[in-house]
Amino acid sequence: MRIDIITCLPRLLESPFNDSILKRAQEKEIVTVNVHDLRGYAPDSHRTTDDYAFGGGAGMVMMIEPIHRCILTLQAQRSYDEIIYMSPDGELLTQSIANQLSMKQNIIMLCGHYKGIDDRVRQHLITREISIGDYVLSGGELAAAVLSDSIIRLLPGVLSDESSALTDSFQDGLVAPEVYTRPSDYNGWKVPEVLLSGNPVLIENWKHENALKRTKKRRPGLLEGN
Ligand code: ADE
Repeated sequence: MRIDIITCLPRLLESPFNDSILKRAQEKEIVTVNVHDLRGYAPDSHRTTDDYAFGGGAGMVMMIEPIHRCILTLQAQRSYDEIIYMSPDGELLTQSIANQLSMKQNIIMLCGHYKGIDDRVRQHLITREISIGDYVLSGGELAAAVLSDSIIRLLPGVLSDESSALTDSFQDGLVAPEVYTRPSDYNGWKVPEVLLSGNPVLIENWKHENALKRTKKRRPGLLEGN
């Protein structure tokens, strides 16, 4: 898989992709992540990427031309399955969207800033808009990092134990069951007995019941399908 992220603040994306699982996924060549500085696609020598809004209003608006030039440059090299605009008014990111996107080959993520982008970008260039939650961030970069992480960890070979992405919260519509490690008794705080029983059937049943109980308590909406 290849992910191209378009941003006017490329440094914001350095750290998330240069550590831990996302770094290893790139080293193993399971995914290529390329961050593109929008300023490099500005048509003027001042590398301008934003301008005042027509009709007035506070805040600058990202211009269409640098974005279009960047997308055209990328599309000249390969075709893209999705061109995603990270936006607080996009569709809410869910595990199911991450699963869908993990099947794609090439994805562009465009990070917004300021008061927004010229709407013609959204009308003509973008195939999908995704929000990571009902709150407003300063820009789309952190959202693009979250979306990328949710996708990349699902790619075969990225997690050392392949089954562990399948047992994540939400994969089966439930939150994950509680987990414990040694010591089994810490100052009198004990691990559930069944987990020490060595009986795989009892343990699996307990995990399922525990996941159900936790889902009912924490996220009852998941059991009603929303
Ligand atoms: N850009 C600003 N806020 C955002 C959000 N909540 N999700 C995605 N992109 C954003």
